[in-house]
Amino acid sequence: MILATTTRRQIITSSAALAGAASAGFLATGAQAQTSKLRVGLMLPYTGTFAQLGVAIENGFRLALNEQGGKLGGREVEFFKVDDESEPAKGIENANKLVQRDKVDAIIGTVHSGVQMGIQKVARDSGVLSIIPNAGLGAATRALCAPNVFRTSFTNSQPTHALGPVLLAKGQKKVVWISWKYAAGDESLEGFKEGFIAGGGSIVKELGLPFPNVEFQALLTEIAALKPDAVVCFFSGGGAVKFLKDYAAAGLKGKIPLYGSGFLTEGVLEAAGSAAEGVMTTLHYADSLDTPRNKAFRLAYAKAFKMQPDVYAVQGYDAGLLLIKGANAVKGDFTKKVDLYKSMGGAVIDSPRGKWTMSKAHNPIQDIYLRVVKNGENKVLSVAAKALSDSGAGCKMG
Ligand code: BEZ
Repeated sequence: MILATTTRRQIITSSAALAGAASAGFLATGAQAQTSKLRVGLMLPYTGTFAQLGVAIENGFRLALNEQGGKLGGREVEFFKVDDESEPAKGIENANKLVQRDKVDAIIGTVHSGVQMGIQKVARDSGVLSIIPNAGLGAATRALCAPNVFRTSFTNSQPTHALGPVLLAKGQKKVVWISWKYAAGDESLEGFKEGFIAGGGSIVKELGLPFPNVEFQALLTEIAALKPDAVVCFFSGGGAVKFLKDYAAAGLKGKIPLYGSGFLTEGVLEAAGSAAEGVMTTLHYADSLDTPRNKAFRLAYAKAFKMQPDVYAVQGYDAGLLLIKGANAVKGDFTKKVDLYKSMGGAVIDSPRGKWTMSKAHNPIQDIYLRVVKNGENKVLSVAAKALSDSGAGCKMG
């Protein structure tokens, strides 16, 4: 029913309009003219602890489209926005607002792994094209993968996979893990364990608190008493700023080295100030990547939005690049799903993070960098993992 509605909307019925479309060079094949606007749904957090992440993703996405004159495959774009509030309980309802009410041709969303579960269900049930610009929910490109779902970010275990060997090389073998207790925290821990336990490391305590709780005090007191060699964590957005500041205020900074999945120091460096200096993380992007591509992106982003980009902006930008690639391949005709998905699945994305390719399960195969915060910037120290792919375990595209 949704498909039928979309098709009806896209067919030009008046001959005058057809003639106009022909002269504008928009015609696809035969009567399948594509002159109506493509409807793009943005389902992102615009309030709460991940609000800044949502804004950065939207900015990055719009920047990519604006570099193409604001069009997708020759068609104008109309945006529909939903603030998902990082609220998993509203995930399905919010995704359905875009699919059923707004009849979007594609959903770009979201940030939070729990909310992504809702989008994943709606995307699988409706067949609407969905691009994940952040949420690392493993299942989205493993057991629950789908031909119409693509990710331009990571699986939660990818960034932390390369972190264990970094600690082991420094002789830091006993660590405390701390994170929010939901899929992103749990799966980041899984990734960390892969590279840490096998190399002889042990996790003396796994600490957690519910998302988006930021009452860290009791847990920091416990860490001080445990005296581990290091602390490793997953936090992001407003919660990351609070954790960095509380860690320093508790007197732990400088005593017990702090490491994290790189989100800990993304988009927060100004707010966290000296509390973030010296923190080492692993991630698929770093501000200081010394490539013409990254420099040009950072300049264009800063000029357009009067702020510095971060990994979320890069992932949003890459979602735009991916959609542009698909849309160009089908000349804006999103009913040509086989060709659309084939083009997107085979994409090589020339990203500010470095070139990456799409795995069979539609997740990036990408380099992971070891970074350190120095003078308010995430500086690259080395490539911690080259062309890292996720297992895609259980993915059957059907
Ligand atoms: C997640 O929920 O998947 C997530 C949120 C913020 C940063 C990274 C991952």
